[in-house]
Amino acid sequence: MTTPRCDTTVAWSALRGHYEAHGRELDLREAFTRDAQRFEAFALQAPEVFADLSKNRWDLLTRQLLIDLARECGLEARRDAMFAGEPINTTEGRAVLHTALRAPRGAGPFSEEVHGVLDRLLAFAESVRDTAASGITDVVNIGIGGSDLGPQMVVPALDAFAHPGIRSHFVSNVDGHDITPVLRRLDPKRTLFIIASKTFTTQETMANAAVARQWFLAQGGQDIGRHFVGATTNLKAAAEFGIHTTFGFWDWVGGRYSLWSAIGLPIAIAVGAEHFRALLAGAHAMDRHFATAPLEANLPAQLGLLDLWYRNFHGFGSRSVAPYHQGLKRLPAYLQQLEMESNGKCVDLEGQPLPYGTSPVVWGEPGTNGQHAYFQMLHQGTDVIPVEFIAVKRPTHEHADLHAKALANCLAQSQALMLGKSTEAALGEKAPTASAALGKLTIARHRSFPGNRPSTTLLLDALTPAALGALIALYEHRVFTSGAIWGINSFDQWGVELGKALCSELLPRLASGDASGLDASTAGLLKALRA
Ligand code: F6P
Repeated sequence: MTTPRCDTTVAWSALRGHYEAHGRELDLREAFTRDAQRFEAFALQAPEVFADLSKNRWDLLTRQLLIDLARECGLEARRDAMFAGEPINTTEGRAVLHTALRAPRGAGPFSEEVHGVLDRLLAFAESVRDTAASGITDVVNIGIGGSDLGPQMVVPALDAFAHPGIRSHFVSNVDGHDITPVLRRLDPKRTLFIIASKTFTTQETMANAAVARQWFLAQGGQDIGRHFVGATTNLKAAAEFGIHTTFGFWDWVGGRYSLWSAIGLPIAIAVGAEHFRALLAGAHAMDRHFATAPLEANLPAQLGLLDLWYRNFHGFGSRSVAPYHQGLKRLPAYLQQLEMESNGKCVDLEGQPLPYGTSPVVWGEPGTNGQHAYFQMLHQGTDVIPVEFIAVKRPTHEHADLHAKALANCLAQSQALMLGKSTEAALGEKAPTASAALGKLTIARHRSFPGNRPSTTLLLDALTPAALGALIALYEHRVFTSGAIWGINSFDQWGVELGKALCSELLPRLASGDASGLDASTAGLLKALRA
């Protein structure tokens, strides 16, 4: 498929002109005053997720030009190619079919294989959940990156649906301070280890798996085959490790898109088969929305386009995610891999260097904690950072007063970012804690807010498995959208290879002290570590 590079299109030039004429200076407060229908005009309903895009620095023409850009860059054809299983991961010659993992039986590619593994996986999960028979009280997932971040995010998010008698643990870091405190609290007889690795070669996972096996045997653990299971595409390596129960998946499932596959085993054990199927169904509903809704009403596409508008025209280099639900505390970390490993690329599909920015930095913390940490910078710092608020209408706890406070805080933050506060308004206010040694105007300047800071609010009715599935799929397709328009391969990750290779070279040097041929800084650090 040959489509023009995005910055050579007619729509890009039109966007550039529009940005210079109206975009740069667009003031949200004026935009709302001018257009009483602005909220409705920028509200979008997708499966399980309502989005308010009206507090963003765009107007109807911006949105139309971005949609024109998407069409000129062949977004719809690229999307269709992904769903059809074409090898769009060109540098690895692979299809990208995580959507097939959540298609109903008979409805997607590889349906028989997918549902065969899924049925077996869920039956196994249910057998573990029968704790009287299985004797399992602790499940330890050992994996990293895509073999960790998805389950580690979803399990606490769905805590309200979790088995009360099973504790979930996650070990990822090769630093022994990760696994040590986990093992200290375990009884080998009651523990199930899941070794989760697509390749079953990842250094961190293999090292931690070996430590777990050693610990298990040293503690008098019997029957590795019963207490260790694998989620992997490398069944042979798992068998060599001593694992007989394995759940496979396929090379067309990228690591960061794999929580829907066997990598989701810790989720299935925590919440059970029915809820795991609901998670898949929610994601599938969002897949259908992305695949069929016109771009004018397509939420993942519009979010991806907005990301591009901010990155390439406004020049915003980062986006902050603030879920106002403690269960989503790991969502920002999950999104970091999804977005930055996917779109952190500097060459196009032909390997040509790109003259424009790609992935922004994605970061965040759950609200309201973030408010008491870095929101100061979002409100009054020198950089404009679009914020994404995620609010959940109905809680799964009984503390209505706490929930109301969380929601009010969420609304207040997006309001404050947009409205700001003028120096004149600050001058008219009392500031009881302000120093009397400074003039009123000086204090008012410190207490004023520039405002016009953009945000998006995503609203879920409740954090159910289906809603969470839809939310994650929404992010996946949004990342796809911006990556497709930038003309990059969002599905490889060569950027992690160099460090891995250098690590293998440095490991023996830590023991030997041999610093020959190293750059002076690395040699100096090696010496200091051995001193
Ligand atoms: O960080 C690089 C990476 O390849 C990720 O894409 C992947 O999720 C992770 O390593 C883990 O890989 P594996 O599942 O093969 O252990």
